[in-house]
Amino acid sequence: MTSTWAGPSPAVALRPSEQARADGRWADLERLRTSHPMMDAVIEEIDGRRIRIGDQWLCDFASCNYLGFDLHPEIIASVEGAIRKWGTHPSWSRLLGNPRPYLEIEDQLTELLGAPDTLVLPTITLIHTSVIPVLAGQGAVLIDAQAHKTIYEGAAIARGAGATLYRVRANDPGHLEEVLRSVPAGMSRIFCLDGVNSMTGNAPDLPLYARICRDYDALLYVDDAHGFGIIGESPTGEMPYGYRGNSIVRYFGESYDNIVLVAGFSKSYSSLAAFMALPTALKNYLKVAAAPYLYSGPSPVASLATVLAGFKVNEAEGDRIRTSLRLKTEKVLDQIHRLGLLTLNTSGFPVIELPLGRADDIDAVGRFLFERGIYVTLAAYPLVPRAQVGFRAQITAANDDSEIQQLNEVLAELAERFEMQRAQPPGS
Ligand SMILES: Cc1ncc(COP(=O)(O)O)c(C=O)c1O
Repeated sequence: MTSTWAGPSPAVALRPSEQARADGRWADLERLRTSHPMMDAVIEEIDGRRIRIGDQWLCDFASCNYLGFDLHPEIIASVEGAIRKWGTHPSWSRLLGNPRPYLEIEDQLTELLGAPDTLVLPTITLIHTSVIPVLAGQGAVLIDAQAHKTIYEGAAIARGAGATLYRVRANDPGHLEEVLRSVPAGMSRIFCLDGVNSMTGNAPDLPLYARICRDYDALLYVDDAHGFGIIGESPTGEMPYGYRGNSIVRYFGESYDNIVLVAGFSKSYSSLAAFMALPTALKNYLKVAAAPYLYSGPSPVASLATVLAGFKVNEAEGDRIRTSLRLKTEKVLDQIHRLGLLTLNTSGFPVIELPLGRADDIDAVGRFLFERGIYVTLAAYPLVPRAQVGFRAQITAANDDSEIQQLNEVLAELAERFEMQRAQPPGS
């Protein structure tokens, strides 16, 4: 199979010099994509959180279905009745017509988040690419260096429409203040960052960022794709993730003043839909200004049904499920600490990335994990900087104890066989 571009002539697609650069930049990833069993894989079937690729059954630690709602019997059962009522896919854009479940979702979500209002659109990517340019206008867009790639896509579109971009060093609120001070007076400002970060698994110091943004009259735009469903209000020693899974603003006991929260149902709620928590006036404005509300097809009926069923399960069992998820995550993190491996995760949340000692080992490490029946997300260059090349395991409530044990055993073997980045011993 050839992996080189064979589409329209470069003059139409990319100029030759740009194509060469693009090829160079993506070469590592493209090589893995075409040769590695853990990339662009075809998954033949699933059995709980085990998946079959070819003849090989593997424990899936690449799923982001953190709460296991994709496999929950009540949630699965919710789909058929909804489809009988609405058909598979009434294809109106939302501006044209909203099947009633959309409004039920927004009402229940607004209550869950304790937000002024909410707006549901199909995906977070669509939200970033349509809403960031609207919010930015001709103003300043500040982006946290570790923000998700889809935020950068939204910012690039905003720049095309006249906004100015500024990069803010990750985990450096002082730098945010410095950059905000450098933005010309009179220019509107929006600062975009991740909630629970998709690579590190850690949450930013939201109260501090919120205070700085309020001081400088900037809007704080937070993407909590990985936090929604996992972290929530009133965390305690006994419930370190907090209650109800109502996302990062509530986790920190913050208000929504000057904050737009974006998250999705595509991970914890296993459904194709996403949302913003925002003031009603902004929601009404986006109904005419954000392209997906006007022009995009809606989320599938099956997803609207599974979100609503997910709310019910979340109220009835969510905190028990989150406790089980946390205990499973702790078992893996404890093993990583015992082995002396470095992980970027300091939060205890279920996104665990392990950087390699040598970026070039990514191919071999991935194959080793695959052969040992462990499926993870490879974090290859240029998806991450070379120093952070490694792999990421997401723990979900649907991973059973034997799978967690298998992961821990394979990590021990991995630590023997490969050069991994090591944690600093305590006190060093
Ligand atoms: C932080 C973050 N934002 C956005 C996305 C994209 O979300 P969606 O699939 O809803 O477009 C992802 C998906 O991996 C993500 O991790």
